[in-house]
Amino acid sequence: MNIWNKLEKPFLILAPMEGVTDVIFRQVVAKAGRPDLFFTEFTNVSSYASEKGRANALERLEIVPTDKPIIAQIWGKNPEHFAETVKALSSLGFAGVDLNFGCPDKNVNRAGGGAAMIKTPDLAVECLREARKNTDLPVSVKTRLGWKDPEEFKTWLPILLKEHPAALTVHLRTKKEMSKVPAHYEIIPEIVKLRAELSPETKLIINGDIKDKAHALELYEKYPEIDGFMIGRGVFSNPYCFTNHIPSRDELMELLDLHLDLYEEYSKNHRVSYEPLKHFYKIYINNFPGASDLRAKLMETHSIEEARAVLENLC
Ligand SMILES: Cc1cc2nc3c(=O)[nH]c(=O)nc-3n(C[C@H](O)[C@H](O)[C@H](O)COP(=O)(O)O)c2cc1C
Repeated sequence: MNIWNKLEKPFLILAPMEGVTDVIFRQVVAKAGRPDLFFTEFTNVSSYASEKGRANALERLEIVPTDKPIIAQIWGKNPEHFAETVKALSSLGFAGVDLNFGCPDKNVNRAGGGAAMIKTPDLAVECLREARKNTDLPVSVKTRLGWKDPEEFKTWLPILLKEHPAALTVHLRTKKEMSKVPAHYEIIPEIVKLRAELSPETKLIINGDIKDKAHALELYEKYPEIDGFMIGRGVFSNPYCFTNHIPSRDELMELLDLHLDLYEEYSKNHRVSYEPLKHFYKIYINNFPGASDLRAKLMETHSIEEARAVLENLC
């Protein structure tokens, strides 16, 4: 059965976040309290379609049993490359494919992908159709309200809904707004109406500034037509955000330990660099007495061994 029809309302999803929701961090979140559904970080279809880029693309699409069910998110602007990439995804164990039509990154947009698709709707539709034609997996879309003006949702979202995607995730901001203004919750009723009129079978997922499960349930009470809620940066403030649990210092330190173990295991057969790992420390070393001093010490480390030494001295 289509994964989107299996999920019970209101379902919770960990947002795809490049450089964050990799195979390691997803295992940490699964341990803390899993969402109903994971997404991968986005993978470029032209990278998958090229001889040089394929190995890297496949590495980004590596999944482990605790990830399941998981959706592969892809981006690009070449319909043939979308077709070629989606053909591979069901054999890799994914439950669905999501097309990224919302990323505001300059390089992605210059390459014609992500939010740039909002400005080339015919191409967006062509990519969506090619993806659907070439896989049995359900195909969904994640996008923003528009490029510049939030009111653009009135023309952009109908274009997508008329294609009847399996699910539509709307990050309630425009590309230009990045994440700098509060999410436009006030627009939800109009989006709900569009979905009901144009594609009632499409699952509607709302994204933007949702802190945790309790916050999602609050929104669900107000807008019961929404099917699911996607949480991104909320996981930085609380890796247990998919439960209603407030972790103790010891629980956070255990998660950090798990993250380091998984990283070490992963580094045995993948090329990794230590610096990006440091970005995760603020997630665990947070909200307890002495956290900022400890975080500062960890940020000065240059290897996992140095980090372990700082943590051992603590005990
Ligand atoms: C570091 C970072 C990386 C992101 N990478 C992706 C991505 O690969 N694909 C995507 O669709 N959105 C990406 N996003 C956007 C998030 O999925 C989400 O839409 C956005 O953060 C708003 O949700 P939030 O307010 O819950 O964080 C990223 C966001 C952040 C902060």
